[in-house]
Formats: sequence, C-alpha cells, structure tokens
Amino acid sequence: MYTSFQLAIKYLQYYCTAYNGRGHGIHSPFVFDFVKQVLNDKKEYSAYKPIENIRRELLRDNSSIEVEDFGAGSAVIKTNTRVVSKIAASSLKPRKYAQLLFRIVQYYKPGTIVELGTSFGTTTAYLASGNPGANVYTLEGATEIAAIARRNFDKCGLKNIHLSPGNFDKTLPQLLATIAKPDLVYIDGNHRREPTLWYFEQFLQHAHPSTIFIFDDIHWSKDMEAAWNTICSHPQVTLSIDLFFIGLVFINPDFKVKQEFQIRY
Ligand SMILES: C[S@@+](CC[C@H](N)C(=O)[O-])C[C@H]1O[C@@H](n2cnc3c(N)ncnc32)[C@H](O)[C@@H]1O
Repeated sequence: MYTSFQLAIKYLQYYCTAYNGRGHGIHSPFVFDFVKQVLNDKKEYSAYKPIENIRRELLRDNSSIEVEDFGAGSAVIKTNTRVVSKIAASSLKPRKYAQLLFRIVQYYKPGTIVELGTSFGTTTAYLASGNPGANVYTLEGATEIAAIARRNFDKCGLKNIHLSPGNFDKTLPQLLATIAKPDLVYIDGNHRREPTLWYFEQFLQHAHPSTIFIFDDIHWSKDMEAAWNTICSHPQVTLSIDLFFIGLVFINPDFKVKQEFQIRY
C-alpha cells in the first residue's frame, strides 16, 4: 500500500495529465456521453438520503465485531476484534464514488450486477437503487460484517440484493455458474494483483460484449497498479477509463481501436 504522501504525488500526476472533467478534447462519442450524462450529473437523487443516513449511523457505531481476515491468501488466517465505525471509515466507498456507481447503473441499466466485497452494504444499496429491476449479487467473507449489511438492506427496503457469504475463491465460481451473464461487475475486495487478475479472468469467462467492469483502488499500491495495467493491456479490453480511485473497463469489440483515458473526477 502506498503511503499518504506517495498517493498524494500520484494523485497530483493524475490530476495534471488527465482530461478535465468537462469532456473537452475527448473524441470517443461513448466516453464523451459518459462524461456528460453520468460523471457530471450533479442531481441529488432521492435514493441518496436513506443510504447516507445508514453511513452516518455506521460512522457513529462504536460496537465491536469479530472480523475474519482474508488478506494473506484464500484461507482465513485469523479473526480480529474491530470497531464498526473504524471499518466504516476505512472500507466503505465514499459517497462521491458510490453515487457515481448509482448513476452508472441508472444510466446503463445493467440487469445483473455482481459486487465483490460488500462490507456494510452502502455501495451495494446504491447499486440496487440505481435499477430496482436488477438483481444485485454481492459477496462478503466476514460473517458479522455480512450480517450488518443484511440489516442495512432491510432498512433501505431493498429486495433485489442477494448476499453470498464466504470466501470469493469459492463463492465467485459458484455464483457465476448459476446466474445470468453479468452486465456490470464491481471488484472491491482483496486488493492484490494475483487475486484481482484471477477475479477478472473469472468474470471474463462469463461476460458479454457490453459488460461493464469497475475496479476499486487501482492506484492504492504498486501491486494494484500492476494489476490495472495488466487488465488495460488485456487483448479483450477495448476501452479503459481511469478516474484514479476507480477504473472502468469495457470489452466491447465495437470500440475498434483500443483507447485508454484518464479523466478528472
Ligand atoms: C473494501 S471492502 C468493500 C467495500 C464496499 N464494496 C463498499 O464500496 O463500501 C472489502 C470487503 O471484502 C471482503 N473480502 C476481502 N477479501 C475477501 C475474500 N477473499 N473473500 C471474501 N470476502 C473478502 C472484506 O471482508 C471486506 O468487507
């Protein structure tokens, strides 16, 4: 993981070289439309408020839970006692990005969505609210974290979320064998190169040309940057959009010439 200082330097480099967030100079009609209609949509949707209320509750919750650690490999190595508010502060995708995911779902209307890494479910709730007609499959290994996420889905009255407990190593292949081809995947757990590339390969085998891939924390560490670069150079990838804290990948062969964008957000 990069230090805060290293990350700040990286962000500065990105900010100086990325396209400005208004879409000037972007010649891809698809990307220009994405910038105009999704990235720059500043409307306060009514779905935001109940989810942000839950985030606030989590950030005030000083109870402790036992959390399995999946960090060092596919087997659970140990459990730690951790405070809910601290997990919420460090693990949940911030409002700005979670709401962007809501707008992506609202605009492109994916019917089958898979999230790797539920945590307390705030981003899952945004994904599910973006298209109430979609099925959102979310995977989480930590038992007590998953239980809190389930309570949060109930609080939001969301009925289109299916949570699979357990290690991704097992739950992901099982899930992909039983659901329709995913239209959108959000990979936000186990931020290391090898697992990230393995998840991508798993999803690729079940994807279709319009599947949208979203990767979290692509500049979080050298390892994750290596994973992101490998993914962008994959022969099936025809378009990538680097927003620094998340990256979007498309495999649509209609995008005839491979293009890689960095856009300020
Ligand atoms: C960064 S958090 C997810 C945040 C959430 N997507 C959001 O946007 O708020 C990552 C989650 O993935 C889970 N996780 C990490 N590695 C895992 C694995 N190998 N199997 C199952 N769960 C795992 C962790 O327990 C953690 O709750």
